[in-house]
Amino acid sequence: MADKSMDGLNSFTAESEKSVDAGRKLRVAIIGCGWIAGSHIKSYLAQPDVEIVAGADLIPGKAAAFFAKYGVENVKTDYANDEELLADKSLKLDAVSICTYNRQHAPCAIHALNAGVNVLLEKPFTVTLEEAVEVMKAEKKSGKVLSIGFQPRLDANMQMIGKIVRSGELGQIYYIQTGGGRRRGIPTPFGTTFIEDATAGLGALADIGCYSLDMVLNAIGYPKPLTVSGYKSAFFGTDPNYIGYREDKRAEYASKFGVDDFAAAFIRLEGGIVLDFRIAWAMNMDTPGDTIILGTKGGLRIPSTECWNGTVGGPMKIYHEVAGNQVETEIPVIKMKEGLFDLKIRSFIDACKNGTPAPVPSSQILYNQAILDGIARSAREGREVEIKIPEI
Ligand SMILES: NC(=O)c1ccc[n+]([C@@H]2O[C@H](COP(=O)([O-])OP(=O)(O)OC[C@H]3O[C@@H](n4cnc5c(N)ncnc54)[C@H](O)[C@@H]3O)[C@@H](O)[C@H]2O)c1
Repeated sequence: MADKSMDGLNSFTAESEKSVDAGRKLRVAIIGCGWIAGSHIKSYLAQPDVEIVAGADLIPGKAAAFFAKYGVENVKTDYANDEELLADKSLKLDAVSICTYNRQHAPCAIHALNAGVNVLLEKPFTVTLEEAVEVMKAEKKSGKVLSIGFQPRLDANMQMIGKIVRSGELGQIYYIQTGGGRRRGIPTPFGTTFIEDATAGLGALADIGCYSLDMVLNAIGYPKPLTVSGYKSAFFGTDPNYIGYREDKRAEYASKFGVDDFAAAFIRLEGGIVLDFRIAWAMNMDTPGDTIILGTKGGLRIPSTECWNGTVGGPMKIYHEVAGNQVETEIPVIKMKEGLFDLKIRSFIDACKNGTPAPVPSSQILYNQAILDGIARSAREGREVEIKIPEI
């Protein structure tokens, strides 16, 4: 299931609480009160310098029920959608978490930035490259913080990949294989918002593919993508006998399935690096392979996980030569003390309060989105496509 380990990511330590100015409270709202909003609210509630003042959902009564569930009182929820909430100037909002399904990321982010509010936008950035560009234009005009919700970025193990690359230990990098997958893991936790085209727009590509891309692209400094030859399919999601769906919902979910459950691509990046990518919500295999980064001096293997959600599956290994001998160096897994979601929320709040750059900037994730968009376009057209990123 998508990111099913979220609950375990929400623990906050006393150590972090010490470093914040609790006197200056940030006024926050949550837009979209579904599944992942639960992780946002738990982490906001753990911050001493945050006040949750409002929430909105398209489904009448859902926002009120959501805040009641988490025991949060005095939250205004009588809004039909994000725009009504953002028009309520009495809220004096500092920031919003946008936790809507993918197709509603761009409109909600644009509305919030135009209203002069800092934005933490859930991943994926958007559905199309065009949307991402429009959001970034609104960001530029507003001068507000826009951070994209890639919490694996804050995992010390993920950060270690970049440290290894920057240390020069791998030499010049020329080839990367990345991706991940699940044998049966199409996410339908509370319905069909992940699998319908009208709400999700993209499937495995946007849900977990964006994490795989970020893991390696962030480590190598986000080179610009140049061309993509992509493929996507939906053999499992559209099958009324797919055993990953609830038995009583199989026919309904299969008929509503309108996105990808598998995608693969060959991507050329600036600097002569090629990226071989594959991602699966469902497949007849345990994993499509570990992530590997090949360099002229060393190669790095990052073990895959069974339920891919952007974590390192075990100790990483560097394959290199030492004094003429072929040796392997194991990089032990680092145990994180803090929950990744708490770190995500904390780093966003700190950026809003201190006017520092977004923890996960749109300028980087733009390239991630350009690749997702390029794969979808290439798959549609059945040929390699060039990636053109408009000026912002
Ligand atoms: N970072 C993570 O680990 C993680 C994990 C799961 C999901 N997500 C992302 O979070 C997003 C939401 O996923 P979810 O599982 O919570 O979906 P969900 O369908 O459970 O909830 C989305 C909610 O947004 C509401 N909504 C949509 N448009 C709206 C609008 N304009 N105004 C107000 N409310 C609106 C919907 O009515 C719905 O209740 C997805 O984009 C997904 O990729 C991230």
